[in-house]
Amino acid sequence: MPEITSLASTGPTPEADIVEALGKRLVVLVGMMGAGKSTIGRRLAARLGIPFVDADTEIELAHRMPIPDIFETYGEPYFRDGEARVIARLLEAGPAVLATGGGAFMREETRGRIAAKAVSIWLKADADVIMRRVRRRADRPLLQTADPEGTVTRLLGEREPVYGNADLTIASRDVPHERIVEECLETLRAHLCGNPPSDIVSAAR
Ligand code: S3P
Repeated sequence: MPEITSLASTGPTPEADIVEALGKRLVVLVGMMGAGKSTIGRRLAARLGIPFVDADTEIELAHRMPIPDIFETYGEPYFRDGEARVIARLLEAGPAVLATGGGAFMREETRGRIAAKAVSIWLKADADVIMRRVRRRADRPLLQTADPEGTVTRLLGEREPVYGNADLTIASRDVPHERIVEECLETLRAHLCGNPPSDIVSAAR
């Protein structure tokens, strides 16, 4: 009879394996508005026992202003420069989980820094999921248009090929947050430690 081998982690827990393999690197979440980067990021950091940082929050603190006001007062190019600077600073402070704003990964310089200092995960959400989630709030300046749905579709078209450069991709959808967090952990462990997901058993020999 084939022996069933559970591919257990080598450390005390899968989370400990990931943290050890990360060293000073961060886990950076990228993807569209409404993909759940902050919600999942906060929970992922708690599971890993490392700090969570939100780039949007840090930008607001640095400018002492909410993001819609930064856009309105100074314009998007100014916001993007500040965003790139803040992310560069946060990338020096690993290990941590960092949620980035939806446009941050579009800047080549930022992608290069993330590649050097972090493992990146694209939380990939489709237009329906995004619209359901962002409709409730008015704090996304880019969506204050006559046709927010059309804007989301356009942005997805421009951004998805770039988000695809992230190291890992997880489908963000309407399932319990903990399930997405589990998938992030399994995928991170496989990527960093070479272990296949723990629920895969091999029929050895
Ligand atoms: C933006 C996304 C927002 C925020 C800003 C611009 C974007 O962050 O950085 O409104 O360009 O997609 P979230 O992705 O956290 O909503």
